Amino acid sequence: MNAPAKSLKGLDLKAEIDKLRKERNAVILAHYYQTPDIQDLADFVGDSLDLSAKAAATDADVIAFCGVRFMAEVAKILSPDKTVILPDMNAGCSLEDSCPPEEFAKFRAAHPDHIALTYINCSAAVKAHSDIIVTSSSAEKILAQLPMDQKIIFAPDKNLGAWFNRKTGRDMLLWPGACIVHEAFSETELLKLKAQYPDAPIAAHPECPAFILDHADEVGSTRAILDFALKSDAETIIVATEPHIIHQMQKAAPHKLFIGAPGADGNCNCNMCPYMAMNTMEKLYVALRDMEPRIELDEATRIAAKKPLDRMLEMAGRTVGKGDLGGR
Ligand code: 13P
Ligand code: SF4
Repeated sequence: MNAPAKSLKGLDLKAEIDKLRKERNAVILAHYYQTPDIQDLADFVGDSLDLSAKAAATDADVIAFCGVRFMAEVAKILSPDKTVILPDMNAGCSLEDSCPPEEFAKFRAAHPDHIALTYINCSAAVKAHSDIIVTSSSAEKILAQLPMDQKIIFAPDKNLGAWFNRKTGRDMLLWPGACIVHEAFSETELLKLKAQYPDAPIAAHPECPAFILDHADEVGSTRAILDFALKSDAETIIVATEPHIIHQMQKAAPHKLFIGAPGADGNCNCNMCPYMAMNTMEKLYVALRDMEPRIELDEATRIAAKKPLDRMLEMAGRTVGKGDLGGR
């Protein structure tokens, strides 16, 4: 359940956040996995690629990032002169945790003939050891620009890497990480749900294991899932990703039924991202009021991490000046 908008001793949090956003010349960026109250007041809601492009292009002085820490770090890497605040600095990511930088550096060193294509869900230090960063919405386009015989390490998500291996016919070497949220979907429960709604297509995020993706009609990033759900002629759609994205679907198509894919217990509570949930309206208000917690990065790491991120934006056709300045 969302925190009520009025709290912190009777403050109207939405009004206070609006006031502070103007005073600070701040832009509020939010991922689709944030709670509806945060999504609704954000200047822009998007997937990881869109949020990175916005962060690189904004002319605001402050970026209030409502997402997880690696996303806010990307904003700081790309816009070092901005103050980047994250409502809760503990908002990590299980994929980031699965890939410690020292272990990754050793893995790279053991495969000197491979380039490192790294999913954006990782620390700045891992990015600094990478050649090109990808998101789920940019990986295919970027892979299409690399020779087929190019040897590639893909980290940290083994499910996403396996999906792109299947899609592109490559044989990337996969780091054995996974997202706890997308690994919690149950094939048995999904098939039970599908039997109840046989005409409902399944849209899944490629962080899901193959036993879920095998049943999907659409596999894509959060934005791709949202676009599919809205464009589909189906009246009912099964959504196999973090369920807060359903808020945008319901807003845009209130006549349709969107059902979150179930976990092993038959409901989807286990598929809520515990890290995204750490950000609340209260914490966003306090962050804008106190201008902290702030993302601070060691400059050498930031510069090294920026190179593969710039390559991603370039190869994905999302460099600054291509219409990324506008709001939602
Ligand atoms: P997207 O790039 O699809 O928004 O994915 C981000 C993420 O963390 C999914 O778990
Ligand atoms: Fe990380 Fe998974 Fe949460 Fe996405 S849903 S932020 S990959 S833990």
